[in-house]
Amino acid sequence: MTDWNEHVERILLSEEEIATTVKRLAEQIDKDYINEENVVLIGVLKGSVTFMTDLMRAMKTPTKIDFMKVSSYGDSTISSGNVNIVLDLNRKNLPSENLILVEDIVDSGRTLKYLVSYLLNKGAKSVKTVTLLDKPARREVDYTPEYVGQQIDNHFVIGYGLDYSEKYRTLPYVGVIKPEYI
Ligand code: IMP
Ligand code: MG
Repeated sequence: MTDWNEHVERILLSEEEIATTVKRLAEQIDKDYINEENVVLIGVLKGSVTFMTDLMRAMKTPTKIDFMKVSSYGDSTISSGNVNIVLDLNRKNLPSENLILVEDIVDSGRTLKYLVSYLLNKGAKSVKTVTLLDKPARREVDYTPEYVGQQIDNHFVIGYGLDYSEKYRTLPYVGVIKPEYI
């Protein structure tokens, strides 16, 4: 049986570091949303799933949850300039809802920049974003997430929800993939 741990060059964020980061983000969000009602975490499938389930349990703010999915094209280590919604929200009371988009990682910034304006156009009361990881050096559009777990250098990372070709999502930490597996 393949051991995915052996495909990891080095660990960037251990389970303990992830837990500390999630707790810090939850506290920041709780503080900012203390006077808000109708907060909804919107997970961007599939990479955000692990982070979202930890974050929602670390937050004290009562939140509903929902999901969206966008498609990516081409080389799986390069995110595409085209953003295509393949699973949309179908919420009845969007004008009263404060959405928090939950992402695993911001790279070019195209996905979140598009989703934020899409959801504001659709009528959401407010839209902010939280991401576990951010690669600011890779940015191609002007976009800054409100809540960032950790900024990282330009490495392709896997684990804790993040994949390469749908693999490695189940690893409990974030690591850099060995180049021979790309
Ligand atoms: P963006 O639209 O270029 O910001 O793309 C963000 C998306 O690209 C993330 O949600 C991930 O699905 C994917 N992505 C970017 N960098 C990585 C990485 O290092 N590992 C795994 N997925 C990544
Ligand atoms: Mg993703």
